[in-house]
Amino acid sequence: MEFMINGGKKLCGAVEIECAKNAYLPILAASLLCDGEVILDKLNITDVSNMQDILRLLGVGFKEQNEKIIIDGSGCKNALIPAKLASKLRASILCLGALVGRFKRARVTYPGGCDIGLRPIDLHLKAMMELGVEIEECHGVISCDGTKLHGGDVVLDYASVGATENLILLTVLGRDKVRLINVAREPEVVDLCNFLNKCGAKIVGAGSSEIEITPVKRLIGREYAVMKDRIVAGTYLLAAAITNGEIEVRGVNSHFFTSLIKKLCQSGCFLDVKGDKIRLKSGDLKSVGFLETNVYPAFPTDLQAQFVALQTIARGDCVVKENVFASRFKYVPELIKMGAKITVSGNVAFVEGVPYLTGAEVFATDLRSGAALVLAGLSAKGYTKVSSAEFVLRGYENFDEKLRSLGAEIKLVI
Ligand code: UD1
Repeated sequence: MEFMINGGKKLCGAVEIECAKNAYLPILAASLLCDGEVILDKLNITDVSNMQDILRLLGVGFKEQNEKIIIDGSGCKNALIPAKLASKLRASILCLGALVGRFKRARVTYPGGCDIGLRPIDLHLKAMMELGVEIEECHGVISCDGTKLHGGDVVLDYASVGATENLILLTVLGRDKVRLINVAREPEVVDLCNFLNKCGAKIVGAGSSEIEITPVKRLIGREYAVMKDRIVAGTYLLAAAITNGEIEVRGVNSHFFTSLIKKLCQSGCFLDVKGDKIRLKSGDLKSVGFLETNVYPAFPTDLQAQFVALQTIARGDCVVKENVFASRFKYVPELIKMGAKITVSGNVAFVEGVPYLTGAEVFATDLRSGAALVLAGLSAKGYTKVSSAEFVLRGYENFDEKLRSLGAEIKLVI
């Protein structure tokens, strides 16, 4: 699959933002813990359909009704998640916490996900063992025995999003109180906790670095409005910025955008926040000088590539430091094909702004790098072909269609 783009069109208009993938996937895993139906808005991306395939194998039923999806975990059974399915997405590992939480035993194969550097699960497993889970690893299969699961304090060495979510799913139906310390504060973690609390869980502290879980006997499925995707919204804001356009993103919580809004203002864009809408008008683009990614509330790693795309045509030089994932500059050679001037040294990229990019044939190497290349193509002179578009479809719903509605000339060729 590839995106074909005729660049140089200003993006203008308004766009509704879809549910956040990184909140939706853990909530799908949480449905394994619920009696009764969980009802969510539909989210049409491949990471969700792959997660549904895994859950179906575990006996979860799915029905669609209008724009909703109805998830029934009552027939849920314990089974090995085969490598073929687990390797399709990193979030498959969240089923481990949920299955041990529900059945006390589980077997999963190592998860997959975007190739953005080593993505181990040592923090997940170490914390689970501290809570009494016995773990054996053999030929890539992780077997967990949670019959001796107990409460207590667990300190994470690093505030990993996935490890935090897995531990919540493991302990929410446990026996004893658990305190998780140095946990991830990402809004998606808070959304998972809000969902679980709506279903009857007793979780306090989500959004801070300490979460306390008082176990409950059962969780009852509910209808839940998953938060909107701050990374998708950020990508559209950057798409308007890079094409000298003017856009409104709708349905978002602007509190989650502080670091991005600051950097967009520094780069010469004009922003206005009203309620759940953010308006951006692009300006005379200038370099922000320095940008570094880190855990929330710092600048998100998932917007790093898209922001670098913007910096390639901003006046001046910029240093970008990636602090979350080791190999998140794999897209740089592709931007260079389009005329960008970037050099990379370890986890730091040096971007020297050029007046414009030119269309080229480029390859997406992962989800966010694919989005960044689309943004570069939208701003470039001439035609750009972004191959391996399927990466982008993992996390953006109707991406080409939404961009077309904003005035872009882009089509998805299957
Ligand atoms: C989640 C998001 C992803 C986002 C990332 C950081 C989902 C489905 N994905 O990924 O989009 O980019 O948070 O905001 O929510 N690490 C270890 N050992 C572990 C776990 C993590 O060393 O056991 C390292 C990772 O290799 C990485 C860093 O910690 O370098 C951050 O990982 P983590 O916060 O766990 O990200 P994910 O949950 O995988």
